[in-house]
Amino acid sequence: MSAKVKALGYAVIRTENLDDWVEFGSHLLGLQVAYRDEDRLLLRMDHFAYRIDVRRGEPGASVLGWDVGSREALAELAEKVAAAGYTVEQGSPELIEERKVMDLVRFRDAEDIITHELFWGLRSATQKFVSPIGAQFVAGDLGFGHAFQALHHGQEKYDELFRDILGFRLSDHIDMPGDVGTFLHCNPRHHSLAYANAPHRKQGIGHLMFEIDDLDTLGRAWDAVQDAGVTILSTLGKHTNDEMISFYVRSPSGFGIEFGVGGILIDDESWLPVRYDSAHYWGHKRPEGV
Ligand SMILES: [Fe+2]
Repeated sequence: MSAKVKALGYAVIRTENLDDWVEFGSHLLGLQVAYRDEDRLLLRMDHFAYRIDVRRGEPGASVLGWDVGSREALAELAEKVAAAGYTVEQGSPELIEERKVMDLVRFRDAEDIITHELFWGLRSATQKFVSPIGAQFVAGDLGFGHAFQALHHGQEKYDELFRDILGFRLSDHIDMPGDVGTFLHCNPRHHSLAYANAPHRKQGIGHLMFEIDDLDTLGRAWDAVQDAGVTILSTLGKHTNDEMISFYVRSPSGFGIEFGVGGILIDDESWLPVRYDSAHYWGHKRPEGV
């Protein structure tokens, strides 16, 4: 069996003020602060040492880290990505230590907007995960959530990289303004990566999704973000394809965070991809002026 990506392991993102991410990510959304210094904040959501690595810098996203599960899989996939024309760099010992993994390789994506890292062996924490809002995250082997990317140069290179080379499977498609969005899974989570060609939107990470296991905790977080004056990108609503009940807010990194509950799981043995003409059963209204 050929090697495949197994999960979305971590993200490295940037913000001008790390305190904003402590307030937003930890106090409002329930991630645990695992480490903090002048330039770096590590946030946990499960037994792993971290999932979100926030650096001081111009707001945005720098890296998505994809867990490939083993040394052998990393070697095989690195070779395939390089053969497809990407410049694949071996991670330096310093970078491997920073990421808290056993090994990694990295390359820029086809649109040159984000670095993808393939790794294995993300370190576990020595302490139990404790959420400040009592949230339990749906993570572990399913990865930390999903990423949505807005592309400016079409989906072909992304399809080739993620589906043909890295082994993602098609979950479904949704009609979107000007394009048809593609949703891919690499484990039972309905999608770990989605993308659409959207030249009218800012290129790159549109949102990252974190999932919790309880609607009441989600509802309280929905109240809390509104009380705190966080910019709402999309009101509470339910998605068609993954059936997730979620809201979207603007993070201190500029891109959105989808915070949700109840996403379906996919069994590859029986799954049939379909196409939806809307992403929403109800809700998910974009407030005026956003
Ligand atoms: Fe999403």
